[in-house]
Amino acid sequence: MTRILGIETSCDETSASVLSGSGNDVAMDSLVILSQDVHRIFGGVVPEIASRHHLTAIVPVVERALADAGVELAGLDAVAVTYAPGLVGALLVGVSFAKALAYGRGIPCVGVHHMEGHLFATALEHRDAVPPFTALLVSGGHTLLVDVPEWGRYQVLGRTRDDAAGEAFDKVAKLLGLPYPGGPHVERLAREGDPSRFRFARPMLRRNQQPADDDYYDVSFSGLKTAVLHATKQASDGDRAHVARGFHDALVETLVEKTARAVEQFGRERVVLGGGVAGNRTLAEAMRQRMRTLGAEVYAPTSRLATDNAAMIARAGLFHYERGERAPLDLNAFASMPLPGLVSA
Ligand code: KG4
Ligand code: ZN
Repeated sequence: MTRILGIETSCDETSASVLSGSGNDVAMDSLVILSQDVHRIFGGVVPEIASRHHLTAIVPVVERALADAGVELAGLDAVAVTYAPGLVGALLVGVSFAKALAYGRGIPCVGVHHMEGHLFATALEHRDAVPPFTALLVSGGHTLLVDVPEWGRYQVLGRTRDDAAGEAFDKVAKLLGLPYPGGPHVERLAREGDPSRFRFARPMLRRNQQPADDDYYDVSFSGLKTAVLHATKQASDGDRAHVARGFHDALVETLVEKTARAVEQFGRERVVLGGGVAGNRTLAEAMRQRMRTLGAEVYAPTSRLATDNAAMIARAGLFHYERGERAPLDLNAFASMPLPGLVSA
């Protein structure tokens, strides 16, 4: 059994978590997530402020995670930390802290790619959310459709050409006068809307597309956002819920159909959702209904594990640790970086 500490500081959550176990048999002993509320004032994450907050929060957050798990520093076998992608100044706080802790304790440090972390998050709540599966990762910064034959082997099938799904939610929320981050607010408002009032085109979704077409799996949400902008200009205040519903339906149907294509092509029987937008109940329910027709099971994380957290980083880190991977002491932070373990078609 390995006991591993995970650290996540890539954006505006300072998070630490202790996991113990091996292989796919892993227990979450603690998880602390400190969300930086300050960014709400600015309607988006301010990088410099995020870094400073990580700096003041990292020590107490790690101490709390250790205390909740009932372990001392001496009880840790390894440290895993997000090193990419994300805000470099924010990432550096976690990376520097993790390296110093590992060096000071004489234990290994493992660098984790943030998006690979999201792939592992759902496995902490559902024992069957393990490969082989089709993954849809939808966050504020990324939209990725990935085939996962096994942990550590990833085939990226599609991605967004412009706005990420969460970013589209946040921008539409702004247009509708809703607070940041907008996803949950748009979801709630859309439930009250009439689906027949505003019907927006499904971006990059046409019946005659073939698997070899490069837009077969890709998505694009900036046109949809512009369509919403025009609709809000014409609509009255009482129409806001209907506009939200039109947007929500278009986005969800696009994501669901693209995922269904991947499930069919690769013959997968499991779909794993990850990233902040995976906390959207309407998306998960629509995905379940559609996948039932293909005989596939859908696994969605709870909001706590869908959004950025250190437990998923520790979980991915444990996998790499068990494979003998170790980060060098000059491990750096990177704003962007392809997923590790990429395989091509
Ligand atoms: O994964 P995450 O916590 O951070 C990033 O790595 O980006 O995702 C945050 C994003 C935000 O854009 C937020 O609006 C969106 O996830 N989000 C949602 C919901 N909850 C969070 N979007 C739609 N529906 C939700 N219920
Ligand atoms: Zn994320």
